Amino acid sequence: MDAHSKKSSNVVWHHSTVTRQRREALNGHNSAVLWFTGLSGAGKSTLAHAVEEELYLVGCRTFVFDGDNVRHGLCADLGFASADRVENIRRVGEMSKLFIEAGVIALTAFISPFRSDRERVRSLMPHGDFLEIFCRCSLEVCEQRDVKGLYKRARAGEIKDFTGISSPYEEPDDPELVVETDVLTMEECVAKVMQMLRDRGIVWQQGTNAHD
Ligand code: ADX
Repeated sequence: MDAHSKKSSNVVWHHSTVTRQRREALNGHNSAVLWFTGLSGAGKSTLAHAVEEELYLVGCRTFVFDGDNVRHGLCADLGFASADRVENIRRVGEMSKLFIEAGVIALTAFISPFRSDRERVRSLMPHGDFLEIFCRCSLEVCEQRDVKGLYKRARAGEIKDFTGISSPYEEPDDPELVVETDVLTMEECVAKVMQMLRDRGIVWQQGTNAHD
């Protein structure tokens, strides 16, 4: 039995009277998953948090799941071998699905290097709810930035299975959005994401949050 099959039997789904639709109506925006993918150092977390800030200002309910943070808790038992990455993304995918039901805009920042894993997460959600955002940034730039000093250590052979160096990254074939984080400013990247959310009718407010 693999990690994707259900081991528990005799479990019955309980339906909530407070539905996703009612939560969305209460919130004044739709829920969705903004799935940021790309190399380590491509700016996924920075962009996800900057978009979250913008969404907060227009009164949206959001939450950012960040690879490094989630690996401190929910996924602390997982490493970076392929099977562990598959399980990491499976868990985050299921969690994002719950957040969609909760009426929240979930923003996830995981390398999520394997196309099949991202597609599996997409298939968990109703059509149009999974928005794949490819943070395109060349390996050269990520390596130059080396914010965490991990590329240097990976090149020195101190970290194995490092994405882009000794473990593959499979670029999305047809993502909902590509943001060239090595070409555009962070403000331009945020604007592109916000425009996509308005174009898709997920967010429609324009004003500033009066409570801020
Ligand atoms: S994923 O591949 O399973 O999606 P995830 O996004 O959770 O990865 O974690 C990536 C982060 O873990 C990187 O930003 C980096 O800080 C850290 N890290 C530590 N070891 C590795 C490694 N071998 N490959 C990639 N990232 C690593």
